Amino acid sequence: MKALILSGGEGTRLRPITHTAAKQLIPIANKPILFYGIEAIREAGITDVGIVVGDTYEEIKKAVGEGKKWGSKITYIKQEAPLGLAHAVKISQDFLANESFVMYLGDNIIKQGIKSLVDEFRKKRANSQILLAHVENPGQFGVAELERGKVVRLVEKPKEPKTDLALVGVYMFDYHILEAVNNIKPSWRGELEITDAIQYLIDKNFLVHSHIINGWWKDTGKPEDLLEANRIMLDDLEARIRGEIDKSSKLSGKVRIEEGAQIINSVIRGPATVARGCRIIHSYIGPFTSIYYNVLIEDSEIEHSIVMEECKISGLKARIEDSLIGKNVVIIKSTSKPKAYRFMLGDSSQVGTI
Ligand code: DAU
Repeated sequence: MKALILSGGEGTRLRPITHTAAKQLIPIANKPILFYGIEAIREAGITDVGIVVGDTYEEIKKAVGEGKKWGSKITYIKQEAPLGLAHAVKISQDFLANESFVMYLGDNIIKQGIKSLVDEFRKKRANSQILLAHVENPGQFGVAELERGKVVRLVEKPKEPKTDLALVGVYMFDYHILEAVNNIKPSWRGELEITDAIQYLIDKNFLVHSHIINGWWKDTGKPEDLLEANRIMLDDLEARIRGEIDKSSKLSGKVRIEEGAQIINSVIRGPATVARGCRIIHSYIGPFTSIYYNVLIEDSEIEHSIVMEECKISGLKARIEDSLIGKNVVIIKSTSKPKAYRFMLGDSSQVGTI
């Protein structure tokens, strides 16, 4: 069995972060989202992985490489434009070579992994297995309608959803999906939809098995989804101290401090993680915060936030919370009210406050 990870597309809802960076590389608990998918696939025993990439190809290749660190073999498949999930399958036909495969959307995280689901697909010998989850906002997903436990209809982002069962971004297919993607037409939004391709399989009486998952799953499309994912993944992190903590600093709860990080006269309350090369000086890092590498935080307080690499935060009078801060951002000294900062700043932004 092979795997196909979809990591092209445009992260419009995560702009400005995604103006200059791939959304699949945003760190969750200091690990790029995409890596969770690669690891879940590896854990399911699949090592032959194709990654569909778009404009952010170079950046993704730089982060993932040939896949050696996971014991996987990565093939990059270039998609010239984000023409749909089924289009991504269509252009991957040579790589797939008629084998069964897992298709994994590169911006999805499934906490329990996919091993048991892949095992189930292998055992059931279905032509496709789809995963469904009850959600509060089904209109933002592909939505499934079932009759006596069987999927009869799939509709992509319906205005009036008939059920609350969303399609999760992990699908399993045998080679018949190739016939489907070659026979469907673009949708109203001009994309070849994977939902339409699966509907094709259903209409042609192929066996499409559905599995409702109960564990935590997230399509990290919006900033609040990223913070929630960060919260959930941090909760699972094992504490580990590899950096330097001076005597006047205090750590409590599950805290991870990586090599080369320095914590000076600061308080860190877990779950929180501070990556290599960071300097935290006379500051407070509160629960559910991830600080990626080479960040400087001094005379400031931050919690429930994601700070990406190479940022500088200094002299803030109010606490930063619920924020997603892109690479290279500089935020210095401010006296603004109310006493909380809520940012969504793009890479290399600079905020100078009074
Ligand atoms: O997350 C689950 C949902 O994912 C499903 O419920 C929907 O049925 C499915 O269509 C999909 O909806 P999204 O609107 O969330 O898809 P998005 O455009 O965000 O693309 C998902 C991933 O696939 C993302 O990592 C980008 C990548 N992609 C997307 C397109 C359209 C590609 O690689 N190529 C593409 O052409």
